[in-house]
Amino acid sequence: MDRSSWKKLYSTSQTVDSKEVKTFQALAHSWWDEQGKFAPLHSMNDLRVPFIRDNLLKTSTNHDPGKPLSGMKILDVGCGGGLLTEPLGRLGASVVGIDPVAENIKIAQHHKSFDPVLDKRIQYRVCSLEETLNENAECFDAVVASEVVEHVNNLEMFIQCCYQVLKPGGSLFITTVNKTQLSYVLGIVFSEQIAGIVPKGTHTWEKFVSPEKLESILEPNGLSVETVAGMVYNPFSGYWHWTENTSLNYAAHAVRARAQEHLEPAESA
Ligand SMILES: C[S@@+](CC[C@H](N)C(=O)[O-])C[C@H]1O[C@@H](n2cnc3c(N)ncnc32)[C@H](O)[C@@H]1O
Repeated sequence: MDRSSWKKLYSTSQTVDSKEVKTFQALAHSWWDEQGKFAPLHSMNDLRVPFIRDNLLKTSTNHDPGKPLSGMKILDVGCGGGLLTEPLGRLGASVVGIDPVAENIKIAQHHKSFDPVLDKRIQYRVCSLEETLNENAECFDAVVASEVVEHVNNLEMFIQCCYQVLKPGGSLFITTVNKTQLSYVLGIVFSEQIAGIVPKGTHTWEKFVSPEKLESILEPNGLSVETVAGMVYNPFSGYWHWTENTSLNYAAHAVRARAQEHLEPAESA
């Protein structure tokens, strides 16, 4: 398929599930409550922000210590209320945050407007990833999809779109939940139904993705997996830790092949 054909194919919101949109619409007012429903996402920044920063800095030598990501363009897909978008902007990156839920973007816009520096560095838009392809082909040094892939329809198309908006050599960062019996018991039964750490109905186990499955989609689509690292949340302390065990949550870093190493994403769509 040539470039204009896949742009046409991907120009509608095919990765967006309307049920997920409703779930996140109902939660939008809670984004910036650090003790509220999104508390685990606030504290996940302790791990995911350095994970993204340090992997991006591996390839750059000349960085300003105060703004190490300055000069980099990052796309934060499924940015929600901007909990991760803002710290990336504070590290100096120009960040575009996109989310299909208008209520999320309204909250994110409002929150960044309190900080004039972030207000300039971050742009938010209500849209799906596929709707940004025309204007953003090979535009970004990094794409971040944190706690998002377990909510999308057609994961392969989502990954192909990530590839298309990345510059050759650019980095894709994903954090998500593994598809294991343990993630069903702890991630859904305990976290949602018993302890109420995560709002009921946030997750569907069938949509969880194992690192092996993710890798089997990334690699044939021109994204070479560099790192997969386990993460674990302690609901009593409210903190996350890195672990070798990926049976619950994990973070992945993949790199888009440079020109000539790969032609087009797998034409399986
Ligand atoms: C668990 S939240 C994560 C928010 C943010 N990435 C963070 O970690 O703070 C999942 C987000 O993905 C968004 N989302 C759901 N389906 C999506 C899709 N198909 N494409 C992009 N974002 C999506 C939701 O609206 C929601 O804001």
